Amino acid sequence: MSGASEREANAGSSPTLASSQSAEPAWARRDAEMDRFLDELIAKMTLQEKVGQLTLLTSDWESTGPTMREGYKQDIAAGRVGAIFNAYTAEYTRDLQAMAVEGTRLGIPLLFGYDVIHGHRTIFPISLGEAASWDLDAIEESARISAVEASAEGIHWTFSPMVDVSRDARWGRGSEGAGEDVFLGSLIAKARVRGYQGDDLGAIDTVLATAKHFAAYGAAQAGRDYHTVDISERTLRDTYLPPFKAAVDEGVATFMTAFNEYDGVPASGSRFLLTDVLRDEWGFDGFVVTDYTSINEMVPHGYARNLAQAGEQALHAGVDMDMQGAVFMENMVNSVEQGRVSQAGIDRAVRRVLEMKYRLGLFEDPYRYADAERQQATLYKPEFLDAARDVARKSMVLLKNEGGTLPLAADANRIAVIGPLGDSKPDMIGSWAAAGDRQTRPVTVLEGLRARAGDGVRVDYAKGASYEFADEGKTDGFAEALALAEESDVIVAAMGEKWDMTGEAASRTSLDLPGNQQALLEQLVATGKPVVLVMMSGRPNSITWADEHVDAILHAWYPGTQGGHAVADVLFGDYNPSGKLPVTFPRNVGQVPIHYDMKNTGRPIELGAPGAKYVSRYLNTPNDPLYRFGYGLSYTSFGYSPATLSAASMGPGGSITARATVTNTGDRAGEEVVQLYVRDLVGSVTRPVQELKGFEKVMLQPGEARTVSFTLRPEDLAFTRADITHGWEPGEFQLWIAPSSGAAASTPVTFSITE
Ligand code: GLC
Repeated sequence: MSGASEREANAGSSPTLASSQSAEPAWARRDAEMDRFLDELIAKMTLQEKVGQLTLLTSDWESTGPTMREGYKQDIAAGRVGAIFNAYTAEYTRDLQAMAVEGTRLGIPLLFGYDVIHGHRTIFPISLGEAASWDLDAIEESARISAVEASAEGIHWTFSPMVDVSRDARWGRGSEGAGEDVFLGSLIAKARVRGYQGDDLGAIDTVLATAKHFAAYGAAQAGRDYHTVDISERTLRDTYLPPFKAAVDEGVATFMTAFNEYDGVPASGSRFLLTDVLRDEWGFDGFVVTDYTSINEMVPHGYARNLAQAGEQALHAGVDMDMQGAVFMENMVNSVEQGRVSQAGIDRAVRRVLEMKYRLGLFEDPYRYADAERQQATLYKPEFLDAARDVARKSMVLLKNEGGTLPLAADANRIAVIGPLGDSKPDMIGSWAAAGDRQTRPVTVLEGLRARAGDGVRVDYAKGASYEFADEGKTDGFAEALALAEESDVIVAAMGEKWDMTGEAASRTSLDLPGNQQALLEQLVATGKPVVLVMMSGRPNSITWADEHVDAILHAWYPGTQGGHAVADVLFGDYNPSGKLPVTFPRNVGQVPIHYDMKNTGRPIELGAPGAKYVSRYLNTPNDPLYRFGYGLSYTSFGYSPATLSAASMGPGGSITARATVTNTGDRAGEEVVQLYVRDLVGSVTRPVQELKGFEKVMLQPGEARTVSFTLRPEDLAFTRADITHGWEPGEFQLWIAPSSGAAASTPVTFSITE
C-alpha cells in the first residue's frame, strides 16, 4: 500500500451488545424524599383520581388513530385524565396544565406526550433513513435535538424509539424503525434512548422515551398492518425482543404495547410479555402505556367479552396507562369495587406514573417546560438545521453509479429535474413528522440543486408523472417532461412513493413505483440522456428495471427539512455517499419476506447444480435480492484483506479478535461501514447463514489503509437454544469482515468455541 499509514482502530472498538448488562438506570435509583412525597399523595387520592392518572387522551390538535373523544378538557378539569398527547407549544400546554394543577382537587400535573419520531420542528430523515447511516453518534444527535426542540414546546415524553424489527417490505411501518437486523436495531435503540433521555430526566431539555410497539408488531402476517403475529417463542426472543431489551439496558423510561396478538393473546393483555419478560426477566422499572385504543380492541380480537373485562385483563397483564380508549376511565372503579381488580394493582400502576412526573420535576414546577421565551429561542436553530442536513447526507445510499454518472459532471449546464418528488415540500419530511412544517420550510430536490448549481447552470423542473395509484396508465405530463429531457444534459428523476404510503396503516401488495412513474422513467431512459434516479420512499422498492437500465440510483428515503440541500451535496459530490442498506431490497414482492440472516434449509440452492430442480428456489426469480442488507456504494472504492484471527478458538471467558485491513483504492476520501458477520455452522437448533456482530464506520483518505478489529466473546454468539435457554454453544463458526452481507462479500475464516 503506497504511502499507506496503517492505523489500527481500537481493538474491539466495534459496539457489542452482550457487554451492556441491565444496570439500573440513573432515574430509577430510590429517592426517599420522592417516596415520602408519593406515599402521602397516593394516600389522599380517591379511586377515581387514581384511575384518572392511568388515562391518556389526545387533544384535538391532531388525530393519530381511529377515534377521537369529545370533552378532553372537561375530563382534565374533572381529574379524569393524567396525560395528554398531540398537544404542544408552551402556551397550549400551559393552558391545559393549569386546568389540572389549578382546577382539580389535588392539582396533580399532566404529562404531555407526542410522537417525536425523527425530529420535532427541525425534521431529520425518517428513522429507516437514519439507520442507513450506520452512524450511532449522528442518530443520537438527531434524537438529542428532537428532545431539545420538543421539550421547549412543553413536551415531556416522546413515543419513540420505535424498535420493531421489520422484514416485510409490504408493511408500511418499517419506515419508522431501524430495519431488519437485530444487532443494528439494538444499538440504534440505545442511541435514540440516550439522545432523548440524556443522563438526567430532570433536565429541562430531556424527555421520557418509549420503546414501542411491544412486541413483534413487525411480524404482521402478509405485511398487513395490525394483522396476526404467529411466530415461535424462539423467533420472538432472538429476532423481535433484543432491541426492546437493549432499550431497557439503556434505561428507557416507558414502553408502549403493540396492537397485534402474540401467541393468541393481544399484546395489551399479555402477562407473558408485560410482566414475565418485561418486569421479571428484564427488571424494567418504568411504566407501560398501551397503543391507541388497543385495550378496546381486545374485544374485536375475541379475547375480551366486553370493555370492562378488557380493562381488567390489561391491568392484570401489566398495563399502567390506557391510551385514548377510556376503558380504565369508564370501567376500572367498578372493577375494583366488584373485587375483580385489587386496590394494590391500581396503586402500583399509579405510583409508576407519578414517579415519572416527579422525576421530570413537574410536582416542583408543573410549568417548567412551558416557557414561551425558551421556545422562541430554541426552535429551528441554524445548528439544528445543519445537523439535519448532515444526517440526511449520511443516510443516503448510492445503489448504482455506472460510467461515473455521479457526481454530476462539471459541464452539465442543463439539469432536468423530473418526477413527482422533484419539487414536493410535503413529501420531503415523510410520515410521523411531529410538528414539522410540511408546507414552507422543507427544501425540495429542485430547490437544493438550484441553490448548489454553479453560475450558468440551468436547473428546470417538470413533474411528468404521478405517484397516485389512480394515475397508473395515464400519460398526462409526459410530453412536457420528455421535451425538457431532450433539451438537458442530465436527467434527475425524483421518484418513489408519496410520504403517506408508508407509516401507519400503509401496507402495499406491490413494491413497484406507484402511479405512472415507471412508464415515464422508461421513456426518459429511452432518450439516451444520462439518468440519475433519486428514490424517495419509506420501504424497499423493487426497482429491478431501474437497476438494469438507469445509469445511477441514489436512495434518499425522506431526507427531512434540509433534504433538498443534502441531495445536492451528494449529487454534486460535495459529500461522498456512505450509507448502507438497513433492509434487504427484494427483486419483487414475491420474494417477501426476505432478509440476509435467513436459514440455510436442507436443500439450499447453492448445493444444487445450476438449474437443479429439487432445491429451494423459484421458477421465475433468483433467490438473491436486488440489493443486500449492508450494501451501499461510494464515489471511491475500498479493498478488503482477508480477515485474520488472534486465535483459532476460544473457550468460556475467552475472546478472539478479528482483523482486516481496509484500503481506500480510489481517488477521493470516503467513509466505509466495515461489517462483521458470523455463522454458527451447527447448533442445537438451526442457525442463520449470517449474523451481523459488529461494524465500524471509518473515513479513509485515498490510498490510506486501516486495520479494523473486532473482539468477540462466546456470549456475543448466544442465542435461544433448543431448551429455550439463552446462551452460547461450542462448535465451529465462519467469520467475514466485509462491505455488506452475503457469503461472497469477502473470504470467510473459521474459528471454534470449545467447552
Ligand atoms: C398510533 C401508533 C403509535 C403512536 C400512537 C400515538 O396508533 O401506533 O406508534 O405512538 O398511536 O399517536
